[in-house]
Amino acid sequence: MAFELPPLPYSYDALAPYMSAETLEYHHDKHHQAYVTNGNKLLEGSGLEGKGLEDVVKGSFGKNQGLFNNVGQHYNHVHFWQWMKPNGGGSKLPGALQAAIDRDLGGFDKFRADFVNAGTTQFGSGWAWLAVKDGKLEVSKTPNGENPLVHGASPILGVDVWEHSYYIDYRNARPKYLEAWFDSLVNWDHVLEMYEAATR
Ligand code: FE2
Repeated sequence: MAFELPPLPYSYDALAPYMSAETLEYHHDKHHQAYVTNGNKLLEGSGLEGKGLEDVVKGSFGKNQGLFNNVGQHYNHVHFWQWMKPNGGGSKLPGALQAAIDRDLGGFDKFRADFVNAGTTQFGSGWAWLAVKDGKLEVSKTPNGENPLVHGASPILGVDVWEHSYYIDYRNARPKYLEAWFDSLVNWDHVLEMYEAATR
């Protein structure tokens, strides 16, 4: 079955002023759509047709770069829209998530600093992540369309640091984008859901 572009789970202007309608229109309708369209084209004849998205991402990594770039980005963006919500962010996390961050990452403030730093120091396009590996949380960064799935981990939060995600609203100020994103947009309830699924 062909992959499809999911609708945004909120209106285009719902994340302003931290992420504008113009950014979401380009990012969702143009960039994400292109990953879906190109991914579906490259899926034909790849031997991975009919598999689920996660299996296509893992199955193409290191073997079919063109397909991987597009389906990796499709996976990343499907979740990226869900990892944000209007009036998100804040420092009050759901209990189980806060406990895990205290246990594995040295507390909320250190986690926030490490996550923002991962996004800031990813040279060129890529992502910063919070993922579960062997039952423990870890912060990481990846280039281009790569994600923790292909490194044996389960991503539970990721931020897009491609310029298309912030250049309209923040120009070159990537750290400012990352701080605003973390403090005002993250949908922690969704992060908790993914944490629980990854540790079940
Ligand atoms: Fe993106």
